[in-house]
Amino acid sequence: MKVRKAVIPAAGLGTRFLPATKAMAKEMLPIVDKPTIQFIVEEALASGIEDILIVTGKSKRPIEDHFDANVELESNLKSKNKTDLLKLVEETTGIRLFFVRQSYPKGLGDAVLHARSFVGNEPFVVMLGDDLMQSEVPLTKQLMDNYEQTSASTIAVMQVPHEDTSKYGIIDPEALIDDTTYSVKHFVEKPSPEKAPSDLAIIGRYLLTPQIFDILENQEPGAGNEIQLTDAIETLNKTQRVFAKRFEGIRHDVGDKFGFLKTSIEYGLEHPEVKDNLKPYLYQLVEEMKASDARNDNTND
Ligand code: UTP
Repeated sequence: MKVRKAVIPAAGLGTRFLPATKAMAKEMLPIVDKPTIQFIVEEALASGIEDILIVTGKSKRPIEDHFDANVELESNLKSKNKTDLLKLVEETTGIRLFFVRQSYPKGLGDAVLHARSFVGNEPFVVMLGDDLMQSEVPLTKQLMDNYEQTSASTIAVMQVPHEDTSKYGIIDPEALIDDTTYSVKHFVEKPSPEKAPSDLAIIGRYLLTPQIFDILENQEPGAGNEIQLTDAIETLNKTQRVFAKRFEGIRHDVGDKFGFLKTSIEYGLEHPEVKDNLKPYLYQLVEEMKASDARNDNTND
């Protein structure tokens, strides 16, 4: 069966970005000029996904509006002949998007369970806004290609520093099936570095078979007292094969402040409107910081 549907959970509280996320979903925070959720939607479309469900929380309105037409803005830009801006505004309309609300943020597993009636009995992908992926073939497409060959669930993973395992779901790999695909013994949510079975962390792309919903329905809260998708995947792996695919491209973690800032700078250095100013500015900043450090060293001597 062809994979046609994607689910984007965007109902978390986004506490790492407070106060910015008090009244706005963190998925609407922009990297230079584009909300992170738009990067995710673009990856889904570039992968051949047809229908996208966004699971939202209380701050649903801006996400819905962002992907809707804005007649007033469009006619204003048209009347001023701002065709480039008009193109940017129109790019985000006409996508087959659906919305469901998760009233209580009980965890990622619970957010995915809200997609049950949208997904039905089909394989589907889950895409998290915390991770922006750069690769020649979009990661979601790579997972979909895996499904065509295996008809099995495949979870994207990536090597992370050992001390960071407690921030991720970690796999206990069994064997390499091909260059980048593993069969998996266990999926463990947020293990401490002492207990982590590997440094291969689940990153925000999952291809799942619909059997995950039966498991999620009975899933008890796990780490952080949240209903964890990783725990449900661990159970799924006991009854059907679940593979892990190592991502070889670049992952930008925009889920915390430092990652978000780094990604903004890196995208800014590629952005046609700001790159020519940003690069000399960064060089200048580095020179000033070096001079300031040297002055401090001299004072301390
Ligand atoms: P995170 O673990 O990043 O949580 O969720 P969060 O609440 O958004 O952010 P912090 O940690 O408080 O800063 C991973 C993804 O799962 C979604 C989030 O929106 C995010 O995209 N999520 C999480 C839900 O949709 N519902 C939940 O109950 C929890």
